[in-house]
Amino acid sequence: MENFQFCISTKVLFGKGQIENLPQVASEYGQSVLLVYGGGSIKRIGVYDSIKSLLAGCEVVELSGIAPNPRIESVREGVKLCREHGVDWILAVGGGSVIDCAKVIAAAACTDMDAWQMIVNHAAITEALPICAIPTLAATGSETDAGAVISNTAINEKRSFFSPLIMPKVAIMDPTYTFTVPASQTAAGSADILSHLLEQYFVPQSTFMGDLLVEGVMKTIIHYTPIALAEPDNYEARAQLLWGSAIADNATLCNGNRICPFGVHGMEHELSAYYDITHGVGLAILTPRWMRHVLSDATVERFAHFAQAVWGVAPSDDKYAMAHQGIDATERFFKSIGIPMTLTELGINNEHFAEMARHAVETEGLLYAYVPLTEEDVVAIFNDCI
Ligand code: NZQ
Ligand code: ZN
Repeated sequence: MENFQFCISTKVLFGKGQIENLPQVASEYGQSVLLVYGGGSIKRIGVYDSIKSLLAGCEVVELSGIAPNPRIESVREGVKLCREHGVDWILAVGGGSVIDCAKVIAAAACTDMDAWQMIVNHAAITEALPICAIPTLAATGSETDAGAVISNTAINEKRSFFSPLIMPKVAIMDPTYTFTVPASQTAAGSADILSHLLEQYFVPQSTFMGDLLVEGVMKTIIHYTPIALAEPDNYEARAQLLWGSAIADNATLCNGNRICPFGVHGMEHELSAYYDITHGVGLAILTPRWMRHVLSDATVERFAHFAQAVWGVAPSDDKYAMAHQGIDATERFFKSIGIPMTLTELGINNEHFAEMARHAVETEGLLYAYVPLTEEDVVAIFNDCI
């Protein structure tokens, strides 16, 4: 078991009606709040009205229209609003894009640096505004983690920023807010959750307990996603997906594993940077192709173990056969929940693969992934996705 440091400092308020605690959050963090949200889903589901009424005594400054794959321009606009209004804290309500945008605003508002420079230079910030996150989609787990991903479409880049200081102070997680998530986003969200688990499971060294925890959450997501798709307002299914998304990506499950850069995420960030596709869809397309590409004598035991533990593949002396059955089952699952499983279906061809591969290897640490990925490997995997 590897050494680790672990501190999830987010106070989680989970379940129906937890929004009633919002005035308490305001009394703790201040009367001037920046409300950050996306294209309007929070108005349709009623949470916007609840917030306005619960924060009636506060100055609520609004930043709306945060796009999926949030843009650096929105971050800069948010920083400007924080400075103009002397904002005390940020309330982020929406999917991972909204929460990520709020996190980088919170950090950049407390420095003199330009927000994009802060991200690409991995600046060690010393301060950030407090954040309360209200996720409305089960996917990224951004509400209890220390990361954020921002796009700069002018230069086709999508980059991550990490600091424990941007971890939300409070997360209000009400599964009923996710009832309206469309089927395509529900499926993409589950693919993202599974990918976070896979990226921490396929590592050079894992622990007995970590494996069981990750396998348990993977099986939970695989079990409940079709239920949430068939019955969008099934509370139990939505609740399991929402809590699963939070614990899948905040290190809770894999402490003691030898974690390495997330290889499939590194490749996907290029796809969404160039083509603005949904993150979870890109991950679902890449995952089985990546698995087949890295399957070798060195990894076959691990893939066979995965096949048996997660997909119930029968044990056999033919580890390659077991591994392939597990990979095929993974691909079939993504297809069964309605995800388009080729890049061609998204209108993507091989035009930019070489430059995307070069950039992914340079900026995402792919040479240090579970199986090191060179530019040639990445191009080959992209080509397999056509
Ligand atoms: O904009 P609105 O109107 O809110 O609509 C959103 C958006 O169109 C909609 N939506 C959200 N909640 C809804 C809803 N529609 C109906 N009812 C609801 N309750 O869903 C669409 C997608 O939202 P988005 O926030 O983009 O989705 P997601 O949560 O999957 O976030 C994806 C972003 O997070 C990044 C991704 O790269 C991508 O930019 N990631 C963040 C991570 C992190 N911070 O830890 C880790 C991930 O690996 C990931 O990279
Ligand atoms: Zn992800």
